[in-house]
Amino acid sequence: MLFEPLQMGALRLPNRVLMAPLTRARAGRTHIANALMAEHYAQRASAGLLIAEATMVAADGCAFTGEPGIYSEACVAGWRLVTDAVHAAGGRIVLQIWHPGRAAHSSLNDGVQPVSSGEVAIQGLINTPAGKQPYEVPRRLRDEELPGIVEQFRLGTRRAMAAGFDGVQIHGAHGYLIDQFLRDGVNDRQPPYGGGLANRLRLLLDVIDAAIEEAGADRVGLRISPLVGAHDLRDSDPEALVRAIACALDVRSIGHLELRHGDQAAPAERAIAAVARQHFRGTLLLNGGFDAVSAEAALQEGRADAIVFGRAFIANPDLVDRLREGVFLADYEPSRLYGGGAEGYTDYPLRPLAEAV
Ligand code: PHB
Repeated sequence: MLFEPLQMGALRLPNRVLMAPLTRARAGRTHIANALMAEHYAQRASAGLLIAEATMVAADGCAFTGEPGIYSEACVAGWRLVTDAVHAAGGRIVLQIWHPGRAAHSSLNDGVQPVSSGEVAIQGLINTPAGKQPYEVPRRLRDEELPGIVEQFRLGTRRAMAAGFDGVQIHGAHGYLIDQFLRDGVNDRQPPYGGGLANRLRLLLDVIDAAIEEAGADRVGLRISPLVGAHDLRDSDPEALVRAIACALDVRSIGHLELRHGDQAAPAERAIAAVARQHFRGTLLLNGGFDAVSAEAALQEGRADAIVFGRAFIANPDLVDRLREGVFLADYEPSRLYGGGAEGYTDYPLRPLAEAV
């Protein structure tokens, strides 16, 4: 089934091998997407869908040097190069829109203090232009500021559509801002944005509804990672959280829900995916440690509708063909993951012709 088409919301996907959003930090200090990025994505256009990397909806919401943005007209023009190249190559591409919250750092944002649901810093160090530094204590967003955050996602969606994307994916995973509201390990607020599950979902659902108004429900997706502990995120009842999110998305008939796992084979991950499957009737994407065999099994068993591959796409631009033909996958060069130029980014070859049967 991996190589069979799928109707995902408004999008017709030719196969079910999807490319994950992968931060590669090639946008430089301007945060504007460029021709090199266009080449990179176009090389991978045979994916059922490309989910472009986490992209800043707020000009002061940077957590990593070289990330792209979608907060200005100049950003739109940059991304237009990418969407045109992907479409010319026969592909489909949605943009993952994102706010890092307390995972940002003032040195990456002209001195602006990171914001969050509360005032607890992430334990650990962040890469900044001045080297590794401790994460900063965030400023607690006031209730009346949250409509402004929603507005940033709304405008991000509007601009993504103006840039020619086929839709957006809201980044609700990995301990970034939306996740900092979703999970009770960090959200210590009172109503309306804390103090109970429904209130912890409020920011997420307001963002989703704004995105739906801009793009249409069938072009909006969401990524969550309920069991991933990145950036010190925990929840006391992830199953209840996923059930509530899945039900809310089902009512809204959004285009997709992506569950980002650490290891899809782990029993807890399987159980949480089953909860999502039970309560969300739309397209369910799973991501996390799949190979061709486990991906096919997940589809055959009805656990997912399509599988999202991250790392394997880095060094295998023609991953779909390689999986189909069962040839070896190339390894990527870890030192070239972030920043820099074409090396380790657009210079991974298609498999040699001799290997193509
Ligand atoms: C992530 O979603 O894991 C992510 C997002 C933005 C980054 C790096 C990682 O800069």
